[in-house]
Amino acid sequence: MSSDEIREKYLKFFEERGHARIEPSPLVLENDPTTLFTSAGMQPLVPYLKGEPHPKGKRLVDIQPSFRTVDIDEVGDNRHLTFFEMLGNWSLGDYFKKDQLEWCLEFFIEELGLAKDKLWVSVFEGTKEVPKDTESTEVWKSLGIPEDRIFYYGVKENWWSRRGTPEAMPTGEIGGPDSEVFFEFDIPHDPKFGEKCHPNCNCGRFIEIGNSVFIQYQKKGDGTLSELPQKNVDFGGGVERIAAAVNNTPDIFQTDIFKPTIAKLEEETKNKYGEAEEKDRRFRVIADHLRAAVAIASEGVYPSNKQQGYILRRLIRRAALNLQKLSKASALSLSEEVTKSLTEKEETATLIGEEVGKFEKALKKGEAMVKGHPKLDPFDLYQSYGIPYEVSEELFHDAGRALTEKDKKDFEEKLAKHQKLSRELSAGVFKGGLADTSREVVRLHTATHLIHAALRKILGEHVSQKGSNITSERLRFDFSHPEKLSEEEIKKIEDLVNEQIEKDLQVSFEEKTYDEASQEGALAFFGEKYGKKVKMYTIGDFSKEVCGGPHVKSTSEIGHVKIIKQEKLGAGVVRIYATIEVK
Ligand code: ALA
Repeated sequence: MSSDEIREKYLKFFEERGHARIEPSPLVLENDPTTLFTSAGMQPLVPYLKGEPHPKGKRLVDIQPSFRTVDIDEVGDNRHLTFFEMLGNWSLGDYFKKDQLEWCLEFFIEELGLAKDKLWVSVFEGTKEVPKDTESTEVWKSLGIPEDRIFYYGVKENWWSRRGTPEAMPTGEIGGPDSEVFFEFDIPHDPKFGEKCHPNCNCGRFIEIGNSVFIQYQKKGDGTLSELPQKNVDFGGGVERIAAAVNNTPDIFQTDIFKPTIAKLEEETKNKYGEAEEKDRRFRVIADHLRAAVAIASEGVYPSNKQQGYILRRLIRRAALNLQKLSKASALSLSEEVTKSLTEKEETATLIGEEVGKFEKALKKGEAMVKGHPKLDPFDLYQSYGIPYEVSEELFHDAGRALTEKDKKDFEEKLAKHQKLSRELSAGVFKGGLADTSREVVRLHTATHLIHAALRKILGEHVSQKGSNITSERLRFDFSHPEKLSEEEIKKIEDLVNEQIEKDLQVSFEEKTYDEASQEGALAFFGEKYGKKVKMYTIGDFSKEVCGGPHVKSTSEIGHVKIIKQEKLGAGVVRIYATIEVK
């Protein structure tokens, strides 16, 4: 069965059960400090999981392209990816555990033809606060899953929120216990991973093919969990892993999604996949990273040293390094060939090729530097040319110097310090999303707060900021809302904003803890909870927002605000552009 058939069958199965199909979100929501990339299908649905009515009803289905930065270092085994497609279905306070688990199993067995005796499940074992999920166990048993294939795990495995365990959830974050389905392949357990095999064992015999999350909790300011006004289901299943199970191959890189890329790599690098573990890891890293790079670059991201651009750069460089290890041919031409097979967009292939070319040049320069100065600090090489330590080791080796454990420790310490600094810098960028602090930018920044408040007053409280970016010419603001705005709504928003400007409201701030500010109703991003004290900016009694500033002193400094353009970024997110008109 092809992966296209799996996608079609899934959408149809849930549409037949009353689910409305929604458009997936873009992968990149720029300047959304909660995350750099869309990493789960539920992400654009948070307001609706919290209780806002969704315009398409209480049952939704889609396929969401997702990217998980946290998995970069895991890539190389039989089942981990950074970029993947997630099948998703949701109940927004409608059906719950019984229907979900029943349908999930029916889909896997009846539609995809998976053997029932190859399916194992896991269930939440409970905490002091949240009871053991015996309800799911009973449902699984009633569906014919025997007790010895039902496993209980704790918060690390069977609790899901965007931030992980209940403890790690910031105030306001939603989550709940989950129940996962695993497919068992006909391969032996590898005792390297522990004496006994079980669904969450890392030996590769089991692959997780679906996760039903019962989102019914929200984290409170005092650290405890409260019940949401409704009980939701959030299901996610990776298409690539499901395809592996359906085709009974324990390696997702052998599915139709990756086969052409692997074949291309075999042809271009004159290596065979499936012969040696070490080489297979390289094949997988290249295949995953270039596919992910294509997906990210297709959404307008360029390689850079910041945020999404930095991740893109890391993916491309890591793919290039592995290409160099597989073949003597230039990584530039190899990556171009592979990338062309992944996208029809010529500019995307060119962009990736250029980055590989830059990296190759940097490597050559680094090599020459090391030859001339074998005493050089490997960290300087990293900072000047982006050459990672493992590569430096080889360069120095060729130049006659063996790097020592001491050298390595020194490098790691310097790197940690450097990363801390960049995190602090990027936290500053996240807060404002500002290009600079020129007069124009500051005026547009205050205008952004007014627009945010006006959007919520005119469209409703489901509106929340998804990202913002300001240059001296215009502001750009992304927010959650199901549809583009009507002319009338735009006019109302502009009028309300300009009315506030004319009132000459005072803009002031107070230092507060994040919790105090959110209790006072200030709008805020999750990312800001980490600062002990935050600034809460108030504009008259019109707007209250946690923000790093800077802002104008009073609104009359802004001038007349005009919304000049809008775009729908994907399901549930609208982007507007506004500027200040000279009157
Ligand atoms: N949101 C859940 C996940 O990503 C379904 O696993």
